[in-house]
Amino acid sequence: MPDAGAGAAGTALDPAGPLLVVEDLKVHFPIRRGVLFDRTVGHVYAVDGVSLSVQRGETYGLVGESGCGKSTLGRAILRLTEPTSGSVWFDGVDVAAMGTGELRRERRRMQMVFQDPLSSLDPRQSVESILVEGMKAHDLAGSAAETNRRLRQLLAAVGLPGSSLAKYPHEFSGGQRQRIGIARALTVDPDLIVADEPVSALDVSVQAQVVNLLEDLQRELGLTYLVIAHDLAVVRHIADRVGVMYLGALVEETTSEALYAEPLHPYSRALLSAVPVPDPVVEDSRERILLTGDLPSPANPPTGCRFHTRCPWRQPTRCDDERPELVEHRPGHKVACHWVDGIASGEITPRSENVDVL
Ligand SMILES: Nc1ncnc2c1ncn2[C@@H]1O[C@H](COP(=O)(O)OP(=O)(O)O)[C@@H](O)[C@H]1O
Ligand code: SF4
Ligand SMILES: [Mg+2]
Repeated sequence: MPDAGAGAAGTALDPAGPLLVVEDLKVHFPIRRGVLFDRTVGHVYAVDGVSLSVQRGETYGLVGESGCGKSTLGRAILRLTEPTSGSVWFDGVDVAAMGTGELRRERRRMQMVFQDPLSSLDPRQSVESILVEGMKAHDLAGSAAETNRRLRQLLAAVGLPGSSLAKYPHEFSGGQRQRIGIARALTVDPDLIVADEPVSALDVSVQAQVVNLLEDLQRELGLTYLVIAHDLAVVRHIADRVGVMYLGALVEETTSEALYAEPLHPYSRALLSAVPVPDPVVEDSRERILLTGDLPSPANPPTGCRFHTRCPWRQPTRCDDERPELVEHRPGHKVACHWVDGIASGEITPRSENVDVL
């Protein structure tokens, strides 16, 4: 692994190094037009230069509005979507350089849990057949009796009775189906789980149960998680570190505590200002940062800072012209904004029309 890949994310603390290192990863989808000739008329810059690393046993939360490229990033890490450029190192091995055979073997160690358990579970397959499939694909299925015992163990680990094996996905509630999705990921004994909006399709009352299950399993099995969510509350609870994504790139990355205590990027500030505070005194004097305008199209991202078309702190003309890099402004706290210090000190204030005092 190259030195740059080790990054500043704490390798000195962990002699074994990070489990996952992503370097300048890009996924650009071609936009094709034409009836006779299939012409490429542009690209959707879904992921446009993301670098991050995840330590063993860590939970990295990835948040951002719908369409900012979270799922594409997750899929590109597992090479379910082919990256345009950049690299992904999994346990020191370059995923992009893996041949089909090696990729198939390594996939066992990197599993994905999807948002909508109903559409990701084949309705015509029993739970037993869904669970056995991955084990067979990786030659992990033993004798019928051994496999049955293993499946019952897995179901118990995700809080479902052994009798579930003979049932079909539609016979379960949304929360139970997500438990089956998690059990399916666990059948092959993975090291990394990329969970893409694992609780977004579930009732709020069930969300916490599934999040708690993921945490329990992590403790018991030593799993490493990349948890993707558009909901900051979900990530706050589960993540050790959080990356905030906007239009295909990270704009801020730090520990969950630091992000929620003091978000430094204007976009994170706006997102967090929309979350109510439990303390009534704080809540009453809270300022809400309003974002105007829609998320620009990733096919035509703004020049300079990608957030400049919506940023209440935008300054002429550097924000429009120069793309800020994600750099460490406080220990372990990276931000991509030219004016972090002035904004944090209050020297640079947001435009008043973007501030709503509650
Ligand atoms: N296979 C694809 N082909 C073309 N565009 C895609 C494809 N998958 C995703 N996109 C586009 O890439 C952008 C990011 O999508 P996605 O990664 O799904 O975002 P998120 O998960 O954050 O909602 C969106 O504009 C989406 O329409
Ligand atoms: S660089 Fe400028 S436009 Fe971008 S977030 Fe910072 S202040 Fe806002
Ligand atoms: Mg998504």
